[in-house]
Amino acid sequence: MDEKRSQTSGLEATVRSPRLIQIDRAEPAAVRAALLDGLEAHPARVSPKYLYDALGSRLFAAICELPEYYPTRTEAAIFARHVEEIAARLPAARTLVDLGAGNCEKAARLFEPFGVRRYVAVDISVDYLRHSLDLLQRRHPAIETIGVGMDFSTHLSLPDEAGEGPRLVFYPGSSIGNFSPEEAERFLRVVHGVCKGGGLLIGVDLVKPAEVLESAYDDPLGVTAAFNRNLLLHLDRLAGTDFALADWRHVAFYDSERLRIEMHLEAVRAVVVRWPEGERRFARGERIHTENSWKWRAEDFAALLGRAGFSAIRRWSDERGWFAVFLAQA
Ligand code: AVJ
Repeated sequence: MDEKRSQTSGLEATVRSPRLIQIDRAEPAAVRAALLDGLEAHPARVSPKYLYDALGSRLFAAICELPEYYPTRTEAAIFARHVEEIAARLPAARTLVDLGAGNCEKAARLFEPFGVRRYVAVDISVDYLRHSLDLLQRRHPAIETIGVGMDFSTHLSLPDEAGEGPRLVFYPGSSIGNFSPEEAERFLRVVHGVCKGGGLLIGVDLVKPAEVLESAYDDPLGVTAAFNRNLLLHLDRLAGTDFALADWRHVAFYDSERLRIEMHLEAVRAVVVRWPEGERRFARGERIHTENSWKWRAEDFAALLGRAGFSAIRRWSDERGWFAVFLAQA
């Protein structure tokens, strides 16, 4: 007992702690102004990044456990099956840059097979990363661990602390799906600059039958509905609005021409939403657009990577062809 305790404290003394860097944290007043701007627009809109407050992040984790939400487990199965083959094709990069790292679980599974030496976890706020990185650093004392808080969807540029040498950017989960094809191309060009001399490993959700998509985004248990509606509680805190949850229902559908899932919140009756210096009236049936989730044809995504400057593009997929993991050189 005593021996174990002294061993633990001895270990703690030698384990390095992750470096944490916060870049340009958004000013509350600017966030509020942007949110109210979207709320006053016709049709009203809110950026999907506001789906992820503390409760929203937990609801998203619950979505990933739903039988209908196939992307997370399909991607995990692709990595589990092909990790050695992917590792053999990697560009010579020992720094892994994880965009939207969250709990860092997906990246941690790659540390050993990829021979990662330095791990740069990027997420909107370092506060989300602190705990996961502390745990991770204990489990992987030899890896240099850096947390960067930054809104990389609008501004991606790594601080000097992210180190020298070629990087492998890891962007899993089909988070790229929140960008329109034009935005995705612009974003991937920026990513290309960040990993020049290294590469990109990215997970992409593919086009598939509408029924499969629609039940993944409107599950019978109502978890996705809760995830979407929780946005209103977050808005109330950030923008000072007075949304009543009972007035709003979750709507999700697949647009087979634009190849995207749309999520909306729809007023179930005429509603007036008020905030300290304004209000917005919604007619019954009027919607707030909260998310787009684009689906890709594998060959179109490969072409997009090419236009963004990437080469030596390789793809791994599941048997049903529902999800793809791309590796490309920068
Ligand atoms: C985190 C953007 C990949 O689009 O599938 C899940 C978010 N929205 N269910 C997705 C989400 C509703 C998710 N991404």
